Amino acid sequence: MPDKPKFYLTTPIYYTNGLPHIGHTYTTVVADAIRRYKRMRGYEVVMTTGTDEHGVNVERAAQKAGIPESEFVARMAVAWKALWDDLGIPADEFVRTTDLRHVRTVQWLFRLCKENGYVYKGHYTGQYCIYDNAFVNDAKPGDNCPDCGRPLETITEENHFFKLSAFQKPLLDFYKKNPNFIQPETRKNEIISFVEGGLKDLSITRTTVRWGIPVPGEEPHVFYVWFDALTAYLSAVGGPDYEKRGFWPCDLHLVGKDIIRFHTVYWPAFLMAAMLPVPKQVWVHGWFLMDAAKMSKSKGNVILPRPIANMLGMDALRYFVMREIVFGQDGNFSFDALVTRYNSDLANGLGNLASRTAAMIEKNFDGKIPKSGPRLPQDDALAKVASETIGEALERFENFEFARSLEAIWSAIAAADKYLTSEQPWALGDSEADMQRKATILWTTAELLRIVTVLAHPVLPDSTAKVWTLLGQPGRVSAVELDGLRWGQLATGAQLGKAQALFPRVDKQKAIERIEAMANEELNPTPAPAAAPAHAATPSGSAAAPATEKIGIEDFAKVEMRVGQIKTAERIVGADKLLKLTVDIGTEIRQICAGIAQYYEPEKLIGRKVAVVVNLAPRKLRGVESNGMIVAASVGPEGRPVLAGFPDEDVEIGARLK
Ligand code: MSP
Repeated sequence: MPDKPKFYLTTPIYYTNGLPHIGHTYTTVVADAIRRYKRMRGYEVVMTTGTDEHGVNVERAAQKAGIPESEFVARMAVAWKALWDDLGIPADEFVRTTDLRHVRTVQWLFRLCKENGYVYKGHYTGQYCIYDNAFVNDAKPGDNCPDCGRPLETITEENHFFKLSAFQKPLLDFYKKNPNFIQPETRKNEIISFVEGGLKDLSITRTTVRWGIPVPGEEPHVFYVWFDALTAYLSAVGGPDYEKRGFWPCDLHLVGKDIIRFHTVYWPAFLMAAMLPVPKQVWVHGWFLMDAAKMSKSKGNVILPRPIANMLGMDALRYFVMREIVFGQDGNFSFDALVTRYNSDLANGLGNLASRTAAMIEKNFDGKIPKSGPRLPQDDALAKVASETIGEALERFENFEFARSLEAIWSAIAAADKYLTSEQPWALGDSEADMQRKATILWTTAELLRIVTVLAHPVLPDSTAKVWTLLGQPGRVSAVELDGLRWGQLATGAQLGKAQALFPRVDKQKAIERIEAMANEELNPTPAPAAAPAHAATPSGSAAAPATEKIGIEDFAKVEMRVGQIKTAERIVGADKLLKLTVDIGTEIRQICAGIAQYYEPEKLIGRKVAVVVNLAPRKLRGVESNGMIVAASVGPEGRPVLAGFPDEDVEIGARLK
């Protein structure tokens, strides 16, 4: 088999002085969708993301946290990587700028630029923004940063300069020869005028910064953060040995509009100076705004991804960011729009079409995909819609018009809904003719569903995999080749898989409150109570951990435990492990969350008497207030909770445990 063509794409590598919000998540989600799409188009793909860990602001943040920089960035890198892994958008290459492979690549790139005569020493005085790690040309002392609005600092130092001025013509020629290098078009024009206006040489080392990659033989010089950071794209796929892996030049850098110059001017110039291949494309996207302002922790207007994913599922977040914003433009983030889209497009749209189609096949054809009978014009009309959708959705996706691609897919879903409403398979009887008609209608609907499932897979990987299983189709949906996708390939006779909840409808107000409560908890975590590490019977690891220290009876007496009776129990949407209970403790009814949902059916708990710690400080778990703790044993290596109880005696509710 011939080798697959290779495709390499990157997100920016993110600063470690803060944690990811929805703006960063946006780029990573888009990169992940492109990666999945390209794989379905037959490419071998590598997607890189990572952390940008050097610079003054990291030095200061580490100092504030009272820990060495190396420890500070290691913690942050773990948090960033864990978030991408948890959200199902992991990197193929996670590169840290403190990785040895990266340090070597930066030093090597510098040596090549120097050997080719593009580096010289000089002095530089300028106004520097320590938050954006950039000198601001034309700024005066006392000015604020034009990007972030924070005060600039005057810095004079000996630097190595990069002869950026020598690259004005080569860059302009390059843009001309590679008209797709900068996308979208409007951004290209902005950069061409900037370069035409003249380029000043660029200082690429610092002596005022300690926390950076050393310039070999020139200590205390360290590399300027952008010379360092941009090179991470190359370090991730082999650095000096990039030819071995065959992923350089990069096919696609995805970047926000604030970092366009670094990627489209500096970066190609550095590579040209080193005589290395230049990336093929930089795609510039807009910002997610909150009340018309860019999100940032300092403004206190950040939206976190995890609470949204917990409440509505990660597919909902992916769908929303790719459907709601025109890629390339700014867009406003609103919870209202998020939940509205969830309910209308996902719960009522894809989810409903999948569940009603499957239910009708189950009922009428013993859960086996029927063979289509004779076809009427309206059946062929739906087939035409589906075939045209394949062309349109793929073309739009190829051009990074994600919103339009999804719009086309959802129009096909709407057409199928309309078709079912007008054909009314549920109104047909059991005669042979009626059964044949039902078979045709349900086959046609299921085939359209199969096609939209494949097309939506790069954006909704989890839920489309469930629909694929539900339709009983062979293999994995991710392995379907988009180039071969045609009407009529539905495997008939296939046994439907088990029905699974795809997108349960949610109450808008309640969902928003839950997301906000979870976000609040993530931003301002409640310190865990000293006496009890978990609020519920969450697994605590080892079943028989040795007691570390003996306590006096007076310490034990501080824990007030009483007999309680469970009055109501329900699952919490978006929190698979938790049950929300109301418990009568004699003097009052308390709401308590317990981490037992995977082991106890809520209905079976009602009326059960349990041991309750009643004097724990209340706290929120997944945004739901919990006021007390149910006591349970933690059994086995996985810490299965077994509720402590009173099966033999008729104990009074509210009785104290001593
Ligand atoms: N570390 C540099 C990038 C170096 S790449 C060699 C950096 N990091 S960043 O964490 O500040 O930003 C990373 C990306 O997140 C940028 O593309 C930026 O545009 C994007 N976003 C940050 N906030 C955003 C929004 N509110 N909306 C959309 N994207 C935004 O810059």
